[in-house]
Amino acid sequence: MIKSILITGGAGFIGSHVVKLFVEKYPDYQIVNLDALTYAGNLENLKEIEGASNYSFEKADIQDADKLNEIFAKHQITDVIHLAAESHVDRSISDPLAFVKTNVFGTVNLLNAAKEYWKEDLSKHLFYHVSTDEVYGSLHDGGFFLETTPYDPQSPYSASKASSDHFVRAYANTYKIRTVVSNCSNNYGPNHFPEKLIPLCIHNIRNNKPLPVYGKGENIRDWLFVKDHARAIDTVFHKGKAGETYNIGGFNEWKNIDIVRLLCQKMDEKLGREKGTSEKLITFVTDRAGHDMRYAIDATKIKEELGWEPSLQFEEGIEITIDWYLNNQEWLDHVTSGAYQDYYSDLYGNR
Ligand code: NAD
Ligand code: TYD
Repeated sequence: MIKSILITGGAGFIGSHVVKLFVEKYPDYQIVNLDALTYAGNLENLKEIEGASNYSFEKADIQDADKLNEIFAKHQITDVIHLAAESHVDRSISDPLAFVKTNVFGTVNLLNAAKEYWKEDLSKHLFYHVSTDEVYGSLHDGGFFLETTPYDPQSPYSASKASSDHFVRAYANTYKIRTVVSNCSNNYGPNHFPEKLIPLCIHNIRNNKPLPVYGKGENIRDWLFVKDHARAIDTVFHKGKAGETYNIGGFNEWKNIDIVRLLCQKMDEKLGREKGTSEKLITFVTDRAGHDMRYAIDATKIKEELGWEPSLQFEEGIEITIDWYLNNQEWLDHVTSGAYQDYYSDLYGNR
């Protein structure tokens, strides 16, 4: 059977890297990118492959069940890789319901469409749900998140992702759909929307604008280059065992303030500014409500069972990332025009 894979959220940050990898690496697969093109979705992310004969795009909202049924039938979908989501914690604090609608309701709609369309023989199909390490909650001391760590989501975003993970596993148990779930740490790299820490700082350093560091900047995140995440998704899709969960991470923990300082140093060099210039832009602002202290993934299982590990060191990945933003000013101008300005002043205006 020829694979016809529905990738949801393929116009977003991670999804666009997954779509590009699959379209280029697997010319025999049909890749259908389903995306609602919210503020975070951008077809410019896909310009390298938009004319490929094994690629097509469907503008659709996963909240629209009828449309999903239509797309499954039209493209004879054999497998799903589900990335579409509302993904930003700060937005989930100001509008939690939007996260319930897309991340929970939308995911259940997609599961229903798959269950219905694949009902003749569920054994031939896979529903791959892409999730986050944030479902495990916040680490305060040492230790790592394992696949067996109990869920303890602390933000509306992570609660909505945890709920969607539970629904995927419940559908596997109840209706015998073959599913796999992966939970990844923070990604960085090209095409990252500049509402998240790393691209926001690169954008602001370039424009000599304040760098808002929440609280004392002591919170810790585990960063993975986005193309390594896309490679991991490829690995899990092809080699992962149905019913299993795989944690994906880079064993690469950084305090926020150290990341911001590193970006300042690197950008001073690249922009020919005097050493220390950009650090003056660092501004400590009111902390995020309920701010998770530390995330850290133990990615031993995926390495030992499936043979995946990160290919890039952080120093290398961050250089590639900064250079990409400096060389793609037009992309930044497009995504930061219009609604981005309102978002920015609403969120940071009162801090
Ligand atoms: P993103 O916000 O950049 O992209 C999300 C995409 O989903 C956008 O293209 C958007 O248009 C689309 N979308 C949103 N709502 C939709 C809807 N109702 N119907 C159809 N499409 C819709 O997100 P991202 O950072 O690329 O994350 C992708 C996935 O990976 C998410 O499920 C996220 O939870 C997960 N994840 C992200 C990270 C990270 O660091 N960014 C880490 C681990 C897991
Ligand atoms: P973010 O990129 O939003 O990812 P997540 O909340 O999913 O981990 O934030 C990464 C860390 O950076 C997080 O601890 C919050 C912090 N942060 C700031 O200090 N300032 C900012 O302007 C942003 C967006 C995030």
